[in-house]
Amino acid sequence: MSIIDSGADHSITVQTKDSSYHMAVDGYGYLRHLYYGKRLEPEDLFYLYRNYDRGFSGNPRPAGNDRTYSLDAVCQEFSTSGVGDYRIPALRVMNTDGSRIADLRYVSHEIRPGKYTLPGLPTARDTDGDAQTLEVVLRDEPSKLTVRLLYGVLEKKNMITRAVIYENTGDNPIVLEKAGSCCLEIPYGNWDLMHFHGRHNRERAPERVPVLHGIQTIGSGRGMSSHQHNPFAILCDHLATEDHGDCYGLMYLYSGSFRAEIEGEPYGSVRAVMSPGDESFRWTLQPGTQFAAPEVLMCWADGLTKLSQQYHKAVRENICRGEYSLAHRPVLINSWEAAYFDISADRILKLAEQAANLGIELFVLDDGWFRGRKDDNAGLGDWEYDPEKLPEGLDYLIAGIRETGMLFGIWVEPEMVNENSDLYRTHPDWALAAPGRKPARGRNQLVLDLSREDVQDYIIQFMTELLTKYDISYIKWDFNRSVTDVYSHLLPAEQQGEVVHRGILGLYRVLETLTARFPKVLFEGCAGGGGRFDAGMMYYTPQIWGSDDTDPIERLIIQKGTSFGYPLSTVGAHVSIAPNHQTGRSTPISTRAAVAMTGAFGYELDLGLIDREEQEEIRRQVREYREDEPLIQRGLYYRLGEDTERMDAFSWLLVSEDQDQALLTVVATATHGNAPLIHVRLKGLDPDALYELREDGLKHSGAALMNAGYTLPQLTGDYPAFRLHLKRVQNGAGKEE
Ligand code: GLA
Repeated sequence: MSIIDSGADHSITVQTKDSSYHMAVDGYGYLRHLYYGKRLEPEDLFYLYRNYDRGFSGNPRPAGNDRTYSLDAVCQEFSTSGVGDYRIPALRVMNTDGSRIADLRYVSHEIRPGKYTLPGLPTARDTDGDAQTLEVVLRDEPSKLTVRLLYGVLEKKNMITRAVIYENTGDNPIVLEKAGSCCLEIPYGNWDLMHFHGRHNRERAPERVPVLHGIQTIGSGRGMSSHQHNPFAILCDHLATEDHGDCYGLMYLYSGSFRAEIEGEPYGSVRAVMSPGDESFRWTLQPGTQFAAPEVLMCWADGLTKLSQQYHKAVRENICRGEYSLAHRPVLINSWEAAYFDISADRILKLAEQAANLGIELFVLDDGWFRGRKDDNAGLGDWEYDPEKLPEGLDYLIAGIRETGMLFGIWVEPEMVNENSDLYRTHPDWALAAPGRKPARGRNQLVLDLSREDVQDYIIQFMTELLTKYDISYIKWDFNRSVTDVYSHLLPAEQQGEVVHRGILGLYRVLETLTARFPKVLFEGCAGGGGRFDAGMMYYTPQIWGSDDTDPIERLIIQKGTSFGYPLSTVGAHVSIAPNHQTGRSTPISTRAAVAMTGAFGYELDLGLIDREEQEEIRRQVREYREDEPLIQRGLYYRLGEDTERMDAFSWLLVSEDQDQALLTVVATATHGNAPLIHVRLKGLDPDALYELREDGLKHSGAALMNAGYTLPQLTGDYPAFRLHLKRVQNGAGKEE
């Protein structure tokens, strides 16, 4: 039983393997948050909170003359607005009379077996067969706005999911100006916020800052989760380290504009609210209708490493779906940095032959293959092969690639259109643009209005044709600009605030249909690299191109930031040419591979430009990746930077769940004369077992490697990388394995 209902006093405890979440209805009918953290057995926790008169914080009606009770000072499960709580509301409404008041009181609750789902939205699945759902119903009586708080418990995974269904059970329309998915309050302590920010070519850089008094917002108004702020945040104790300390994660299963607001409150607590959309969000709830706010995957753990490992497992097993989510991913070569738009059958077939010779398993034909696509000014929307570049047709090209033994994959950007395309000339109203305004361009293209069903159907149709007509095993689904000019020709003025969210629902419908129709196709997400790198997309695309920046030294920080929430199996990572096209930096091919192997591995370079020695190295790398892949995909991931970053080296370790194997990677970002040797303490090994260290032939106990550590050989040259494979050769009882 993971949800325990105390009965009479309306206190509810949600239990996972290691954590507990306590809430209760108080004497005035408000649903109070009492505790979230290390697992406790159910107990009355109201003693933690003491009421006293706090000036200028009003007292809700049910409190009568009790001046010591204010919503401004208590921890609530779902904060609202207009009735005396001046902190971040999880919900903002405009009632038919124009008032912005919602006084949410407890009505009922229900515990159900299994995990709830949400209409049209991705949700974590119950893959362990242990999930339960708690639904708590709150209502604002005057407007009859009913708010159903949903909690899904994935007990073994230590995950609690949150989502909200808003329902208009009254007779008048209600406008949702903000429709939060969750509110989390931490009543006491000294907290830091970790978030993952960036820009194109520099996504998900980790930043840890103290939670200050006032509100800090991370989010996106770009119609995509964005390069700028990933929809994942961690609240951790100011003293928390990789190994210890209270850490809470909030991961949004959502790919559109969003807000995560974190407030350090006057009385010392912290409130975090996640909601879909930005300030322009408005959703009119007609009587009898519902609005589902997307799901948040919430987790508590002792230490950042544990938090990350729990997210890795849950994202991999409960969110990613399809044949490829846990299986071998073919090592690929992508044509983009090899040829850009300059595509011809000869050039592509030559690259394919070279790649197949080196053991590469999948050829991805990137941008530039379709009608009119000479550069990025034209073509998006006309998804047939370009007869000028490929006069013999796509079939001919695919047959040639398949003959080499490789699978074939192709790039598409279905949500976009160039004005110079037949699609735009036929359907100009399918692009987002307001009447009387010329829309802004981004990468010379416009965004299709996916809130429209006809546009969704067009994408489903052309993709179905493409995937049916041709022998395609992989799709790279790109999205290369932020959204502007939000206006849909099919919606009335008062519903234009719904367009962005409706567009995301449209995208999810398209992806759901296509992934169900073509279960054998591997879909990789992309948005100018990692601009839509979120758990919502991972429900449909189990891997996402990590960043357009393929420089391994840049990738170190990108992939480190990514590792806080997302498993390596989700991160598309490629070896490209040196000097790197984004930074001009030269690095050894061994370093490029060591970094790219910390992900869904591939290559993206003109193989004709490298010498025989590097080609041999690629052949070895592909073999090695295939051997190591189970450990890379499913191993427990440890960031070891606390030991090595002060020595200009990034390091990380993967340990198999049975502790039989491990793989240490260290990359030096600078080399110094007469430098101290890099020393690292390993983690997660079996202390009693003996491990063989493949690359230097030594054998040492897990205890020694974890406590005394491991000293690396001297690393020289530019940006050297070091990899060490460990294998258990003797178990704790001294028996040879
Ligand atoms: C985006 C992607 C790249 C490549 C180009 C093609 O930038 O992130 O990998 O596919 O588009 O135009």
